[in-house]
Amino acid sequence: MTWSVVPSLTDTSEMADNMLNELSSFEGQSVLVTGHTGFKGSWLALWLHRLGAHVTGYALEPPSDTNHFEASNLADLLVEDLRGDIRDAHLMADVVRRCAPDVVFHLAAQPIVRTSLVDPRETFDINVIGTASVLDAVRLADRPCAVVVATSDKCYRNNGQVWGFRENDPLGGHDPYSASKAGTELVVDAYRSSFFPVDRIAEHGVRLASVRAGNVIGGGDWAEDRLVPDAVRALSAGADLIVRNPGSTRPWQHVLEPLSGYLALAERLLRDEHPATWVGAWNFGPFTNDEATVADLATALIDAWGSGRWTVPPGSSSDVEAKTLRIAIDKAISTLGWQPRWHLGEAVRRTVDWYRHYYRDPTRAMREHSLNDIEAYETANRRPDPT
Ligand SMILES: NC(=O)c1ccc[n+]([C@@H]2O[C@H](COP(=O)([O-])OP(=O)(O)OC[C@H]3O[C@@H](n4cnc5c(N)ncnc54)[C@H](O)[C@@H]3O)[C@@H](O)[C@H]2O)c1
Repeated sequence: MTWSVVPSLTDTSEMADNMLNELSSFEGQSVLVTGHTGFKGSWLALWLHRLGAHVTGYALEPPSDTNHFEASNLADLLVEDLRGDIRDAHLMADVVRRCAPDVVFHLAAQPIVRTSLVDPRETFDINVIGTASVLDAVRLADRPCAVVVATSDKCYRNNGQVWGFRENDPLGGHDPYSASKAGTELVVDAYRSSFFPVDRIAEHGVRLASVRAGNVIGGGDWAEDRLVPDAVRALSAGADLIVRNPGSTRPWQHVLEPLSGYLALAERLLRDEHPATWVGAWNFGPFTNDEATVADLATALIDAWGSGRWTVPPGSSSDVEAKTLRIAIDKAISTLGWQPRWHLGEAVRRTVDWYRHYYRDPTRAMREHSLNDIEAYETANRRPDPT
């Protein structure tokens, strides 16, 4: 399939409905996913395999003892399940040469704000230098491919504005994690300008984009210091869920929402004869009427679980985390034809359902359950834009 024209606004509803069908063009493609042992990377690799891609994964060990990568037996589905550090330039270059990717999704990172406050240097090292290492391996491989680098909605200079950040807003970051993601964006921009310029794509063939998503929820995340994993740990043990910053608003969405955006974007980068439209930065977030405070989400999780309560420990505060974080998704809606498919209630319901099944029998493989979520997402109707 080839997109030869940039869609006009009037084309987008049809495009959005067709979008997931068009992902069939991943069939037979060689795809490298960094961070495939992590939460988002394991869901993405599973989805890519379902779409017929030949997926190679490169990452460190899964970030927690229980994790979606192992719960879904993902290793069985990969061409190669490679372990190593993205900062190891020789290994990284070797991985890209071996995989000979048509598409690279770079998701390996240190993704937790509070961890970045404990070891800021390591966070900058992994997220900024690590990304340079991945892009340098692509440069040295000297082969055409689409590259999608995951950064974050936190990469923007957060001045407390109530309206959503757009892709051309200034970068920044008050804490090391956020600043490292702004740094990742600068690395991407420098590689694109210096080595993969848009006006010479016919020569180098590398189509490079970055993607900025909000806080994702879904089955299989057991990271420390994230609301859903904290809730699941507490609720499954009959303990109170301890909540920091109950009033903070975040762009929560099911993990499949941004991943569908990454896939749609990679598909355009791969196939479109006008790739200049697609290289650059893209926000993937919820509609504004789906944003919720930490307190709202904690309550919704407990309701879906059927029991439990949340409390705020006295004196707890983490001022470094922005109170309101909102990203505008007009570009993805109007240009890419992507838009959210599940409202927050559905995302919470499916997330809790995933964990409920897991905790009923932790030895059982969860791959089918995750694939059912993916299938349900693929066939869900697009939602009307509430704005
Ligand atoms: N989870 C979210 O809510 C969220 C929101 C916005 C952006 N992101 C971004 O999405 C990406 C994936 O996040 P996640 O939630 O899946 O994280 P995760 O912690 O679940 O997974 C991180 C992955 O990176 C790998 N990794 C870490 N350091 C590495 C290194 N030095 N070398 C090789 N591999 C390394 C881990 O092994 C793991 O596979 C990250 O870039 C993160 O910043 C996540």
